[in-house]
Amino acid sequence: RAFRRGSGRATFALEARPNAHATHPASDRTRAMKFFIDTADTAAIKELNDLGMVDGVTTNPSLILKAGRDILEVTKEICDMVSGPVSAEVVATEAREMIAEGMKLSTIAPNIAIKVPLTWDGLTASEGLKVNVTLCFSAAQAILAAKAGAAFVSPFIGRLDDIHLDGVDLIHDIRTIYDNYDFKTEILAASIRSVNHIVDCAKIGADVMTAPPA
Ligand code: E4P
Repeated sequence: RAFRRGSGRATFALEARPNAHATHPASDRTRAMKFFIDTADTAAIKELNDLGMVDGVTTNPSLILKAGRDILEVTKEICDMVSGPVSAEVVATEAREMIAEGMKLSTIAPNIAIKVPLTWDGLTASEGLKVNVTLCFSAAQAILAAKAGAAFVSPFIGRLDDIHLDGVDLIHDIRTIYDNYDFKTEILAASIRSVNHIVDCAKIGADVMTAPPA
């Protein structure tokens, strides 16, 4: 088993190892950082899931568009394959519309997490739904997500690095704050761009990281 190192997009492509999944199913590694796969490519999900490396999936409208599939259809297919949380993102920007969209997505499968943006409307829509609050760029936003009772908060490391801020520092700050107050919201490190991002997140104690398959 090996992570590929490289300067480009993050990858957790793996060399096949017979029976790796059989002895250590992902669901048994309750204390390890969870690996979500950031894609709507069902073939890629299947390949990594068969190796026991997929604890969940995140998608977004761009990824669904790239897969060229209907959102409900592809999300259902993913949920049938993966037992962990599968994030499906709303496209509405107004709370009431987000709730309607979220309710519809929730009917796909019990393991759906509704992805809402970290805006006031997104936080308003969070009540009563299992949400992954996405597009988190600051510790202050992460506090609001936790206060709103989100299941996951997704800080975007790579996009912070893109604007010459330190995305990994944000993960550290959120870990400290959540531990100070025993917030149960899981830190889902997103917008991962390198293997070093994954290692840094593991050192800090991010609950989950989501990375593209290649
Ligand atoms: C996570 O849920 C997001 O879909 C993803 O990590 C966004 O990453 P990007 O900055 O590469 O678009």
